[in-house]
Amino acid sequence: MVARIPLIAGNWKMNKTPAEGDAFVRALATRLGTIEAVEVVVAPPFTGLQAVVSASLGTGITVAAQNLFWEERGAFTGEVAPGMLTSLGVRWVIIGHSERRQLFGETDQIVARKVRSALNHDLRPIMCVGETQEERDAGMTEERLVSQVTKGLAHVTAGEAGELVVAYEPIWAIGTGRTATPAAAQEACALVRRQVAQVLGPAARETVRVLYGGSVTPDNIGDLMRQDDVDGALVGGASLDVESFAVIAERA
Ligand code: PGA
Repeated sequence: MVARIPLIAGNWKMNKTPAEGDAFVRALATRLGTIEAVEVVVAPPFTGLQAVVSASLGTGITVAAQNLFWEERGAFTGEVAPGMLTSLGVRWVIIGHSERRQLFGETDQIVARKVRSALNHDLRPIMCVGETQEERDAGMTEERLVSQVTKGLAHVTAGEAGELVVAYEPIWAIGTGRTATPAAAQEACALVRRQVAQVLGPAARETVRVLYGGSVTPDNIGDLMRQDDVDGALVGGASLDVESFAVIAERA
């Protein structure tokens, strides 16, 4: 069995100026020292990427963008190309977060194109999937996750599973304080892993990393990480504070 390195990613969403991001990463690096058993990633808004990458150099912390566009350049007002991100030293990109899907109309087809584009540019995608409360109540969680994983990975090849991270984020748990129980997180993450292997082949089961996201805190990270199919967490609110994010990384 391949040992999958745990991954803790902080999604800052639309928070923090470049100066605040710089200060955060310096403080986080000091606080964490050298932790090697866990990969720690922070995702500032586009405007903070350069400052945060600079602050992260030599620390072991790496940086994600929260979105990208799949074209290389051209008349796409307001969009950011993958090469623009890599030229700053960005290594990861969150794709298809539920806020992008719900507020900005991103479809599974858009997500699939973005995932392909990220891989083409050596940006490691963190592709988000998850069901709404209504879908869960209607017993449609499995159908929803299978569909999102299958469509989102439509253009990924078998050999790329090791570059891929899928974050299971039940929409009802995001920013609500209603974390999925460890058992529910395990069940959904196992399902996501199975479906990735269904799409990309059996070897992907061992190499793809599956994260849980949705109201992760220092108090619940331990129980979540003890689940077999939870390889880490995508953290929103609790990633905005150095101390709480550091404790989450340590407990992971
Ligand atoms: P939350 O957000 O931790 O604030 O619930 C998670 C996310 O949206 O990635």
